[in-house]
Amino acid sequence: MDHMYGLVLSIHVLIVVLNFNNFVLSSKPSKPQVPCYFIFGDSMVDNGNNNKLKTKCKVNYPPYGIDFPENVTGRFTNGRTSADVIGEFLGFSKFIPSYSTASNDEISRGVNYGSGCAGILKKTGTHLGNRISLDRQLRRHKSVVSRLFQLRKKMTLLKKCIYVINIGSNDYINNYFRPDFYNSSELYTKDQYADVLIKQYSRQLKTLYSLGARKIVVFGLAKSGCSPAQIDRFGTDGRPCVQRINDAVELFNNRLMPLVLELNNNKTDARFTFINLTSILTLLGDVHLPSVPCCQVRNDWQCIPNSVPFPIRSMCIFFDGTHPTEVSNIFIATRSYKAVSVSDAYPYDINHLAQL
Ligand SMILES: *[C@@H]1O[C@H](CO)[C@@H](O)[C@H](O)[C@H]1NC(C)=O
Ligand SMILES: *[C@@H]1O[C@H](CO)[C@@H](O)[C@H](O)[C@H]1NC(C)=O
Ligand SMILES: *[C@@H]1O[C@H](CO)[C@@H](O)[C@H](O)[C@H]1NC(C)=O
Ligand SMILES: *[C@@H]1O[C@H](CO)[C@@H](O)[C@H](O)[C@H]1NC(C)=O
Repeated sequence: MDHMYGLVLSIHVLIVVLNFNNFVLSSKPSKPQVPCYFIFGDSMVDNGNNNKLKTKCKVNYPPYGIDFPENVTGRFTNGRTSADVIGEFLGFSKFIPSYSTASNDEISRGVNYGSGCAGILKKTGTHLGNRISLDRQLRRHKSVVSRLFQLRKKMTLLKKCIYVINIGSNDYINNYFRPDFYNSSELYTKDQYADVLIKQYSRQLKTLYSLGARKIVVFGLAKSGCSPAQIDRFGTDGRPCVQRINDAVELFNNRLMPLVLELNNNKTDARFTFINLTSILTLLGDVHLPSVPCCQVRNDWQCIPNSVPFPIRSMCIFFDGTHPTEVSNIFIATRSYKAVSVSDAYPYDINHLAQL
């Protein structure tokens, strides 16, 4: 595959990063805003849970992690994920450990259950190998909660924590839009499929609630049809992105936001909030043109092991064919933590949610 450097001359991104650095320096809290922070999701947040699994969906090799303090960790990007950066904003001085490595001393600060290629549906991603579906992530959380109770932690602690969930993209790109491996697109129209996903997700969010979560951040899906991988796979008929993928994802997002509001109504002692990545990424979308990967990619759009990526990573939106660079992740985290427009985070941004 040809090597293309990802050059995106986005002054907006650079400005955000400069602001971000000031922000972190000027606001180092001695104590986190909340006692703990739990993370669920897919490769957007995975920090190494897939490393020991038999799957093509793992990236514990260079150049992944090239800009991360601990180098290669299994994160699907060059540096920090958006979940890492949100943790820094919340005032955690260390990264939240992956479930696969977390010790008893660490779990009371939180655990990261994220798993690349995982979905809301159990079957999603199976053609690539093993992965921890959202149901399994919730079972792992249940066992962590029992360990916490054995350590004499109380339900009141869990109620104060922040819970972030970022999942669903694989239910499209590694399920619905892979008719060569899955029959979901034969069984369901896009509308019906969004309903199937939302029904399952609703049940899963209630399970999280039943395990003590009361401050829950639900990420909507980014427009997967704009990733270099999907554009290469399907072509765009002269449009900037693969429209039918984005249309399908939008049907899901348009149901997820009302679900979040309904859960707020029904569970009156909990606060759910919706992060709108379409709104947050609009700025990046406007400068869409050359969003090609920052690393040299192989056929499956992961970086070629030990290849040398473009040197100025802060000028790329995507690190590989699917995953955002650290600079994009900082952008996402910054606006989910402190919303710039009401549509970024509704009803609360994460900063506000932490203080409630
Ligand atoms: C990162 O780790 C890889 C092996 O996992 C190693 O080859 C490389 O030299 C390391 N880079 C740095 C900067 O430590
Ligand atoms: C869809 O695929 C599953 C297995 O992946 C199979 O059990 C099911 O019968 C299939 N359904 C249809 C309608 O083909
Ligand atoms: C909220 O409560 C109403 C009335 O009990 C119920 O019909 C609805 O299914 C609930 N919604 C969710 C997401 O649980
Ligand atoms: C997300 O934000 C965009 C841009 O502001 C808006 O058009 C869209 O309706 C929002 N989506 C949801 C689900 O609220």
